[in-house]
Amino acid sequence: MTAENLNRARAFAKAFHTGEGTGHDWWHIKRVVEQAKLIAQHERNADQLLVQLIGLLHDVPDRKLHSSEDEGQAYLLTWLRSQFDEQQSRRLLQCINEISFKGAGVDDFVSCKEVAIVQDADRLDALGAIGIARAFAYGGKKNRALFDPDIYPEIHLSYEAYKISEGHTINHFYEKLLLLEERMHTETGRQIAHQRTIFMKSFLRQFYNEWGVEWEV
Ligand code: ADP
Ligand code: NI
Repeated sequence: MTAENLNRARAFAKAFHTGEGTGHDWWHIKRVVEQAKLIAQHERNADQLLVQLIGLLHDVPDRKLHSSEDEGQAYLLTWLRSQFDEQQSRRLLQCINEISFKGAGVDDFVSCKEVAIVQDADRLDALGAIGIARAFAYGGKKNRALFDPDIYPEIHLSYEAYKISEGHTINHFYEKLLLLEERMHTETGRQIAHQRTIFMKSFLRQFYNEWGVEWEV
């Protein structure tokens, strides 16, 4: 892995993500890479270049940004093969596939420290004020209601069930966002997640207060 690999990955990711409208735009990628670099400084023996490479590419194969999951995989693999040998390309694709959230009832599996760091950084960007903004941007783009007090959150026991869920955006807080603090791998990530989760809970209390419902936070 060289600085040149990183430069090419940055150009590729920037061209792919610029202007994306569901909160997976280039700014998200930049924030994740910066956050991952900071977390990595506090972790022993983390490969800084690998952290940055995975951070830059982590959302390229996201099924939400392609017409199918397979298409996303093929798109990234083609690019990886243009830069790395077959074994390295497969390994990098596997690392990147480990990062995404697959449901409240599905355990995370990370095969190396660098993936754990980028997963923490990516999840921190789904929390706090920016996390709230991204959730409603995503919901709006998918024509989802902000909230429906008659539709309750579900705990998805499989990735398949999580992928096809179509609830309102407030439910996404219970189905994913409020669960992320517990699932952090690094101490740095856990501390930041804790503060951002407190902020999100106070947002939810205010939201319910304005709506006039008594949902649990
Ligand atoms: P991951 O990178 O773990 O796969 P996603 O791509 O699913 O995560 O989520 C990235 C962003 O999109 C987050 O900010 C998240 O809140 C938002 N998002 C994803 N699914 C939903 C949803 N069903 N409702 C609202 N926001 C969502
Ligand atoms: Ni991401």
